[in-house]
Amino acid sequence: MNPLPKREVPGPKSRALLELSRTVEPPCAVDQVPVVWDHAERVWVTDVDGNRYIDFTSGVLVTNVGHTHPGLVQAIQKQASRLMNCYSFPTPERVTAASRLVKTFPPNLDKVFFLSTGSEATEAALRVARRYTGKQEIVAFYGAFHGRTYGAMGVSGIQGVRRQFGVPVPGGIMAPYAYCYRCFYGRTYPECEFFCLKTLDRIIGSSSSDDLGAVIVEPYQGTAGFVFPPEGWLTELAKWARQRSLLLIVDEVQSSFGRTGKMYAIEWEGVRAQMLCLGKGLGSGVACSALAGESKVFECMSPGELSSTWGGNPVSSAAALAVLDVMEKEKLAENALKVGEVLKSRFMEMKKKYRCLGDVRGRGLVMGLELVDPKDGYTPSPELIGRLIQRCAENGLLLGKVGIYGNVIRIAPPLVITQEEALTGADIIEAGLKSI
Ligand SMILES: Cc1ncc(COP(=O)(O)O)c(C=O)c1O
Repeated sequence: MNPLPKREVPGPKSRALLELSRTVEPPCAVDQVPVVWDHAERVWVTDVDGNRYIDFTSGVLVTNVGHTHPGLVQAIQKQASRLMNCYSFPTPERVTAASRLVKTFPPNLDKVFFLSTGSEATEAALRVARRYTGKQEIVAFYGAFHGRTYGAMGVSGIQGVRRQFGVPVPGGIMAPYAYCYRCFYGRTYPECEFFCLKTLDRIIGSSSSDDLGAVIVEPYQGTAGFVFPPEGWLTELAKWARQRSLLLIVDEVQSSFGRTGKMYAIEWEGVRAQMLCLGKGLGSGVACSALAGESKVFECMSPGELSSTWGGNPVSSAAALAVLDVMEKEKLAENALKVGEVLKSRFMEMKKKYRCLGDVRGRGLVMGLELVDPKDGYTPSPELIGRLIQRCAENGLLLGKVGIYGNVIRIAPPLVITQEEALTGADIIEAGLKSI
């Protein structure tokens, strides 16, 4: 039962602001369902017309501790009234946040450098990797997204990131990811025995100029459509990299801070990376990202060589500390796992009923619902997505979309969501699926 009243989307105040937006902002600034946010608390968003919505987006997997968490808000306010920026001069907040964060890492990662955005963290990882290994090439994957800057673009495998933007930073060698629902090789798991990994040496053999130093990978591919590789795939990839003395960089900008039900997604298989890129949930609303790494790797960088105007600023550092406090006190990773399991089984039931729901995948509170043409049950259907998102908004649920083909609903609520709220959201989705 959906307890939320049906509403007009966009409402009159939203329409006026969207009209103003069109006159002063470029079209690329608007890519969501037309809801103009006013304020939010926990998992509830209120728009400028006074309509309330359950948020299944967390912005874009950012507000892990929930919108305007009082612990986070107080920490930011207190810090803002004392000191906001001092560039790279150390502060108690930065040093304490670093020491607290390092304790959450797998044991081999013992250093962390703060930056502001996810792209900055992946760019930094690429620079450190080149310096440390002395090599320019890096294996990356079809469907990968590591940011919109030119270095990140060179290791991204999404058309929308590259289209008509010219030549990215060279050195990226692209290989197929384990997108088993749409296998690049047309194979089936587990019979394939990770065939895609077996092809890596051939791909390198034909594309590399013998200057390969590293691998960069997402533990699940976010932008490609919340694509989760089968269990063991990441472990095998890490083994392959280790056997060839390649540095392994795992991009956990979106998969970290409890999102999958563990602090870091690599913990699920105990994978060892030499660098970890972090962002989004780390500040849970405040711009804050970080590059984690092994001491010996970071030693190749001289003082000042990674600096960034906002990196490690006192307000972001205070925010990161508050986020770590909240995560621990409220056991958010555990909640993500518990609520995520219930939600996923609800979606699996829907998959049996609705032919347009081609695939349901995910872990913790990050799931992808892949919409397909009901006629054949497989052809990607971006048309249905637009209609579903609009219907759900009218019924009080905010959703986002991702996917190589733009046909995947992203389910990623703040990790503080209760089972009841999550299931209300699922009811709204089911009503939407019935009506599209
Ligand atoms: C895996 C991954 N890496 C990097 C980024 C880039 O982060 P940002 O948008 O903060 O630069 C994103 C953003 O969605 C991401 O999902």
